[in-house]
Amino acid sequence: MHLSPALEERYTQEKMSAPEAQRLAQFIAWGPMVFQVSRLMVKFGILDLLRDSNEGLTRAELVEKTSLSDYAVKVLLEGSLSIGTVLVNPQTDRYSLSKAGWFLLTDASTRVNMNFNQDVNYEGLFRLEEALKEGKPAGLSHFGSWPTVYEGLSQLPAQVQKSWFDFDHFYSDASFPSALQVVFGYHPRTLLDVGGNTGKWAMQCVNFDPKVEVTIVDLPQQLEMMRKQTQGKPGADRISGYGMNLLDPANAFPTDRHYDILWMSQFLDCFSMDEIISILSRAARIMDGESRLCIMETLWDRQKYETSALCLTMTSVYFTDIANGNSKMYNTEDMETCIKAAGLHIDEIHDHLGHGHSILVCKK
Ligand SMILES: C[S@@+](CC[C@H](N)C(=O)[O-])C[C@H]1O[C@@H](n2cnc3c(N)ncnc32)[C@H](O)[C@@H]1O
Repeated sequence: MHLSPALEERYTQEKMSAPEAQRLAQFIAWGPMVFQVSRLMVKFGILDLLRDSNEGLTRAELVEKTSLSDYAVKVLLEGSLSIGTVLVNPQTDRYSLSKAGWFLLTDASTRVNMNFNQDVNYEGLFRLEEALKEGKPAGLSHFGSWPTVYEGLSQLPAQVQKSWFDFDHFYSDASFPSALQVVFGYHPRTLLDVGGNTGKWAMQCVNFDPKVEVTIVDLPQQLEMMRKQTQGKPGADRISGYGMNLLDPANAFPTDRHYDILWMSQFLDCFSMDEIISILSRAARIMDGESRLCIMETLWDRQKYETSALCLTMTSVYFTDIANGNSKMYNTEDMETCIKAAGLHIDEIHDHLGHGHSILVCKK
């Protein structure tokens, strides 16, 4: 198995003392309380108030400033002391923000993940056991009866949709500037953006290169959202849509023209390995020796920091329970297996784009 140096260090040897390990075990057992208390410390503004106070605040001051009851503030503060997001000075009884509290409050990735977990995953996670046993997104039924979350995306409640898109875009948006350099290094005239979603990448492409023409392949209902979002923007006339469900093996990629680049960003993680092989085999059919398939994924084994790998392996659980029941955040080995089975090979790998994306450049 390939592991980046940070993961090799962490995943191959036991580093914890017995008390540390016991504490972690309890942290897991109390995970739902840890999550909800911490989320509410942010939502009620308590962490904000602590950050903004130089000497820290007493419980009574927090009660006054938040209008919560003394009981509520006491429960949250005591829980947060154990969680490690706040500190207390026993001489003055003043509370202040700890380092972890500071990250919880200000780290954009942590906030996006927390909102995603609360709005999209939390309630459905109760059915993870069923999802793992049946290979179906059992937690999705909490929102509707679609076979996968993608069919339901445009109909999810507004807050859930916001947290879903914030999560999705947080990762891909940060990588787009470096990805443009990689992709346009091949001077494509035509680009097929498979799973192009709201058209964010396509818009960046047409703005980056005044001649390139982009075709977005996605589910028909998703293309409607894309058209609304791109309408009237400069360059949008060079973006077209091709609606198709790629889960149907009878559906072929468009052959109206030669596509210099086939682009798949955060797309293949929406499918099982067998489905990926089917999609890539169909992609290979419209490729020739000059075409390149660029796959941008957050591969967990290539992460520079272990915390990033944690976010990815946990995201796999969302795929199991909510998204589709059979896909995940893959590692290099799994992705390469699928690429080879589709008759393609990896020509180049670009690592550490944005928050940890890699681009696998594949050829026929
Ligand atoms: C996780 S989003 C990735 C969006 C975008 N490429 C990015 O990098 O942010 C996956 C996209 O694949 C599309 N998709 C999922 N299942 C699909 C299917 N069966 N056929 C076609 N598109 C699908 C979804 O509608 C969604 O737009």
